[in-house]
Amino acid sequence: MLRSPNPFVVGKPVPAERFVGRESEIAAAFDQIYNRSHIAVWGGSGMGKSSFLQKLESPQTWVEHGLDALKAVVVRFSCEGITPFSSSAFWGEALTLLKDKLEGELEQAEIEALLQKTEKTKDDLRQILKVLGRKNKFLVLLIDDYDVALNTNEYYDEKAMQKFLSECRNLAVHSAEGQYLSTIVTSRERLSESGPQLNPNASPWYNHYLFLQLKPFNNLEIDQILKILRIPDLREAIRETTGGHPALLQIAGFLLYRDLETANAPSMEAFVKEFESTSQPIFQDIWKRCSENEQTLLMLMALSALKGRLHQQRQFDVSGIEFIFSQKERELSKLEEQGIINHTSNEEKTKNIYFFTSSTMERWVIQELWQTDEKWLDARQKVFLNLMSKEQREKINKSIQWLWNNRKELPSVLEWFGKLATAFPKGFILPNS
Ligand SMILES: Nc1ncnc2c1ncn2[C@@H]1O[C@H](COP(=O)(O)OP(=O)(O)OP(=O)(O)O)[C@@H](O)[C@H]1O
Ligand SMILES: [Mg+2]
Repeated sequence: MLRSPNPFVVGKPVPAERFVGRESEIAAAFDQIYNRSHIAVWGGSGMGKSSFLQKLESPQTWVEHGLDALKAVVVRFSCEGITPFSSSAFWGEALTLLKDKLEGELEQAEIEALLQKTEKTKDDLRQILKVLGRKNKFLVLLIDDYDVALNTNEYYDEKAMQKFLSECRNLAVHSAEGQYLSTIVTSRERLSESGPQLNPNASPWYNHYLFLQLKPFNNLEIDQILKILRIPDLREAIRETTGGHPALLQIAGFLLYRDLETANAPSMEAFVKEFESTSQPIFQDIWKRCSENEQTLLMLMALSALKGRLHQQRQFDVSGIEFIFSQKERELSKLEEQGIINHTSNEEKTKNIYFFTSSTMERWVIQELWQTDEKWLDARQKVFLNLMSKEQREKINKSIQWLWNNRKELPSVLEWFGKLATAFPKGFILPNS
């Protein structure tokens, strides 16, 4: 039998034709493009920023949104590709790609001349925008990984950064040629959370952007991604396992599809094992980007959830942890914005109950805790001190020590992923049958 290629995409942005959902975000982006305005898209690691830009770059998407793709010159690049990042290298990259896009047109020679200069500036791009405007065209700059421009490096100090960001703002807002330009930048954090100190005498450098957050997929989007598998009742289980995180969903789909195609009746344990190891870099990246306080809150949350999973263990006492959460709502809402956690209210609606969006991430945090030791615990006391009372600290220390010595008591994969376990045996249908 001829094998059909796996339709799930792992490890790279999804091509426009496989792009799922995000309809209101795409519509908002086209509204801004139509008005020659600007957007800052932000979302955690693997949330789909690069895929989003690729979707916006596709002429087919323009047709679907009733815009004339021929009037626009669309240029897409990632700031991660500009090493080391500098203002001149940024404008140079934009001009080079713009030149490639203008194959066979007269402006190519003009751009080539500008590229010969050692220092490229926003004025070079401005000059080309003027020419595009005369031809009734405009430029759409799709700039991925803008976080790079908000971090200093050897060639790009705080002052250079301030200058670059105000140049971008000037070009977009104050120059006459701004009417021929629309920019969409993506970053892992909201722009207002990063970048240089604000100048009290000027508008914030990010004020011209409309902010748009990419969140985990909703149920409809999850269904769309998984529909090719035709496994009834799987959605709930996969939603719980992945938290609707696009990259995690694609990994889950990829593994399941492969097993189905090779008619390999997948065992749930084998699936979880492979899923966990394939998704590890994503969790590590999310973890690395959290502050120490945020990491500690995630650990506390995982410990608190573990208590619920360890019905009989009296020695494992983390009671009262929720009190810490009620005092750290700001940090928690940042974690929530990144799609790592979520909350509901208790029945009386008097307090928020926080939980991990992905049960795999929750298990990963517990596994991280296994690997710690006394030295690590000592070093963490300073952070604990910021977050909790002496009594609470003692309780938490004891429960972490309990974890080190009682790994065997922890719930099995089957118990941990209960929903997945129930959904798994319910008749797999081969996609081609
Ligand atoms: N709209 C979408 N439809 C289908 N799959 C998607 C979508 N968005 C993202 N994905 C999947 O999620 C994974 C991560 O997407 P992408 O690389 O675009 O994320 P990112 O936010 O750019 O990540 P990073 O922060 O690492 O750059 C990809 O493998 C892709 O298949
Ligand atoms: Mg990306």
